[in-house]
Parts: sequence; C-alpha cells; structure tokens
Amino acid sequence: MKRIAVFASGNGSNLQAVIDACEKKAIAGSVCLVCYNRKDAYARVRAQQYAIPVVYLDKTAFETSDEMDAFVIKELEQHKIDLIVLAGYLLKIGPRITAAYCNRIINTHPALIPSFCGKGYYGHHVHEAVLNYGVKLSGCTIHFVDEGMDTGPIILQQAVPVYANDTVQTLSERVLTVEHQLLPKAVALFCEDRLQVHGRKVMINELEDVQ
Ligand code: GRF
Repeated sequence: MKRIAVFASGNGSNLQAVIDACEKKAIAGSVCLVCYNRKDAYARVRAQQYAIPVVYLDKTAFETSDEMDAFVIKELEQHKIDLIVLAGYLLKIGPRITAAYCNRIINTHPALIPSFCGKGYYGHHVHEAVLNYGVKLSGCTIHFVDEGMDTGPIILQQAVPVYANDTVQTLSERVLTVEHQLLPKAVALFCEDRLQVHGRKVMINELEDVQ
C-alpha cells in the first residue's frame, strides 16, 4: 500500500476523486497527507472529513521558497510519503522536492501537453487560451513532474472536444470530468508499480496473469 500526499489549492474535486478511488480499493494506496496553500481551499475541508492530516503551506511564512521546500520535505518524510499528487496545485514545486521525489510526483494539467502549458497556463487561463486559439480538441494530461513547468514525462492523456459555443466554464467542466477519471487511473498504475520511465517515455506494464 502506497502512502500518498495530495497538494491542492482550491476546490479539491481531484483530491476527492483520488480519495474515492482509494476507498473503493481501485488504488492500492491511501491519502495520508493533504497540503494546501490557500487558507480557504475547500480541499482542506474534504481532507478533514476523512481525518486526513493537513498542512497549510503559507508562502509568506518562509524567507525563501527553498526554505518552504525543506519544510515540505520534512512533512513528507514524517508521513512516509511514497507519492505526491498535484491536484489543482497552483504553486511551483521546487528543485529540492523534484530531486527528492524524482518520478514520484504526478500532476494533472487541463489541456493536451505540449499545447497550452508552461508559464502562465494554469486554472482558467488554460481554457481561455484554448478557446481563443480556436482548437477543436483540448483534453487532460497526467504527467510526472520534473524541474520544468509541465515538462515531465506523460503518463496518460485524453482528448476532450471543444464546441463552438463553449465558455471557459463549460469547457473546464468537461475537462474536469475527464481529469476525475484519468488522475485516479494514473495513481492506481503508480501504486501497482506499473509505470516505468525511460527518458521522456512512460511505459505502462501489463498486469501479469496470476494462475
Ligand atoms: C483542475 O482542472 C486542474 O487541472 C486545474 O485546476 C482544476 C482544479 O480542480 N489546475 P480541483 O481543485 O481539483 O477541483
């Protein structure tokens, strides 16, 4: 059983999807820690409903972001975390954490990487850019996190159609529904040790037949 930490900044519906999948035993792991960086994040309430320990990451309480990262690593170690899941977490994870948890941090991005990703592409900005560009397909990408921004190896992707009358609201809801399926699926694969990273490529191992 893997011990999972989820980082969230807002509503936490992706956190909920991971918790639900753990409860249903679709994931061989459990959420043992939730870190949030906005005081009013509903993700905190969700975590507390399941008695999951929470940590508030107040950026202003640290002199440097490296200091905050050192604090985060201490928390992760204390809770013996195997996997970090960034689920709607809007702060960048520092190099100290990406190095310590190499290929053990998973992020969900609400577009098809390498389009509409990187600096400035977060939250509603992603969907705004998608609609302004006029692409007919958007989607969701679940990827490992490296020191770059949305640059890590891709685990799963799924396309979502963009309709002519879409608004940021309607498109983000359609993408979010897919994230709720894809993120727990990627976490489940990780927890079954079925993900192998070869350079930029992530291989998904088939389940062996149990006789
Ligand atoms: C998700 O679409 C995530 O990809 C994006 O913000 C949304 C967060 O939703 N960065 P929630 O907080 O999990 O409900």
